[in-house]
Amino acid sequence: MSQAQPATASPETKEKDTIVVSGIQPSGTLHLGNYFGAIRQHISLHREHEAYFFIVNYHALTSLHDAEALAHYTMDVATTYLALGFDPEEAHLFIQSDVPEVTELAWIFYNLTPVSHLEKGVSYKDKIAQGLSPNAGLLNYPVLQAADILIYGGTLVPVGADQKQHIEMTRDTAGRFNHTFCDDDAPLFTLPEPLILDDVSVVPGLDGRKMSKSYGNTIGLFDEGKDLKKKVMSIVTDSTPLDEPKDPEADNVFALIKLFASDEKREEIAEAYRAGGYGYGHAKKELLGMIDSYFAEARERRRELKQRPDYVRDVLREGARNARAQAEPIMDRVREAVGIVSATR
Ligand code: TRP
Repeated sequence: MSQAQPATASPETKEKDTIVVSGIQPSGTLHLGNYFGAIRQHISLHREHEAYFFIVNYHALTSLHDAEALAHYTMDVATTYLALGFDPEEAHLFIQSDVPEVTELAWIFYNLTPVSHLEKGVSYKDKIAQGLSPNAGLLNYPVLQAADILIYGGTLVPVGADQKQHIEMTRDTAGRFNHTFCDDDAPLFTLPEPLILDDVSVVPGLDGRKMSKSYGNTIGLFDEGKDLKKKVMSIVTDSTPLDEPKDPEADNVFALIKLFASDEKREEIAEAYRAGGYGYGHAKKELLGMIDSYFAEARERRRELKQRPDYVRDVLREGARNARAQAEPIMDRVREAVGIVSATR
């Protein structure tokens, strides 16, 4: 080939022992909790390893029944990843449903999955407790997730601590498949490892509880101007008077500041808290400036990308093409192992 090669490793040249896979829910506007809890790590991992990141619209459908919203959030997640620096030359970004083999594999896995295990799912029980309808999609959610991971031969799955059980279920599923359909010395699936993303980044929301769409306490990644200011100013603090010393480690504003500030800056602000004479209003102003400048470039890039929906589509199409190329030979082996014959293929 006479073409110039990119300076960084392309997906074709990265070592293949580690295959990173992860899904992102398109069920709401992405917020600081999503960013520090997962997106930031996804962005750094995608440069280091061969990686498949997909927008899990079929998973979102288990709880979101609004066509316009689902379609909107799906494209919004893609735009957000690209705005934050996801480089499509480095790894694959695509929409889950653009690889239809995933649902085919999930169907095969259903037949190996005890319903009693699914009913014990922590995440399933949580969602029911939050008032979601216990439909079959919600119950079977972890099986689709197992298909998501195993269909690309994923070995490393970066997820939040709340997903640990789902990765264990994926490992069980892989083991059960190998045991049922493969010779002992020729297992089809490798058991993937979870990469549990730092709990340091449990990001407090406006009310001090974990930042979460379901609590309505989020700061959006691209909030700006008056809207951002209003949210930051509404962060709950205690009522220690301005001139009294304060414990930075007990304050929500400081917990957010820590995510953005350099070590030096963080120490400086912590000192000010402890010294007294520094109020929560000061801290909020500081935080506001930090959020605003931290995401300034990404906001700008996102504005540009919004003008180029065709480019975003092209990236997703190319990502899906590569993902399918990875999935197809694995699916062929699965069908053969199980005895699903075809008169047309
Ligand atoms: N359940 C994951 C979450 O809520 C999203 C997800 C779907 C996922 N499929 C996946 C994560 C595969 C990792 C791998 O965050």
